[in-house]
Amino acid sequence: MANYVYIATSLDGFIATPDGGIEWLEDAPNPSGGDFGFSEFISRVDALLMGRNTFEKVLSFDQWPYSIPVYVLSNTLKSVPDELKERVEIITGNLSVVLSKLSSKNHKDLYIDGGKLIRSFLQEDLIDELIITRFPKLLGKGIPLFEDLNESLEFKHVETEVIEDYLVKSRYRRTKRCAAAGQLRF
Ligand SMILES: NC(=O)c1ccc[n+]([C@@H]2O[C@H](COP(=O)([O-])OP(=O)(O)OC[C@H]3O[C@@H](n4cnc5c(N)ncnc54)[C@H](OP(=O)(O)O)[C@@H]3O)[C@@H](O)[C@H]2O)c1
Repeated sequence: MANYVYIATSLDGFIATPDGGIEWLEDAPNPSGGDFGFSEFISRVDALLMGRNTFEKVLSFDQWPYSIPVYVLSNTLKSVPDELKERVEIITGNLSVVLSKLSSKNHKDLYIDGGKLIRSFLQEDLIDELIITRFPKLLGKGIPLFEDLNESLEFKHVETEVIEDYLVKSRYRRTKRCAAAGQLRF
């Protein structure tokens, strides 16, 4: 099982304005009308686990944007809109319980989305790959992607792409030592 983050941040590391706004993500020049590699990424995962706040934001979009199963981690949400009942499931519990529930459903590669959710995954060293697209602006304040960690985590840089001379998209893999063999996992 591998857990992937695919997210956009401001230069100062925010994923949304303090009130959860993401309109600033619409400023990227996009003459070809592409999706900056999102569909290629989503073809590599088989389920999406998102925090409740992110789910509520996605509900405000014109269309439901995902074709893969979506799980919303929430201890307060009681139901999802009727039209999404086949596509979205509420999931509860601590992260190890949640991951074993998803594994029992045969999900192997998970897209982890939402600031608080990603930060809690990082706190438990449960993220295998970070794909971060930086926008060239300072929001000054907002919802951060990162917070203080109990332990530092090392990642290996895999690739960086500059898109339209505006976005910088970098991919990092967690390097983990195998205690028995003393070898890097990636
Ligand atoms: N820039 C981007 O690419 C990007 C991507 C995704 C999201 N966003 C933005 O980020 C904002 C949402 O992020 P957020 O940090 O506010 O919240 P979030 O991670 O989306 O949701 C947090 C909520 O998830 C639930 N939760 C349950 N267990 C959890 C656990 N172990 N760890 C974390 N959360 C758990 C809690 O809901 P309950 O209280 O119901 O238990 C918690 O309040 C939205 O504005 C969204 O638009 C931006």
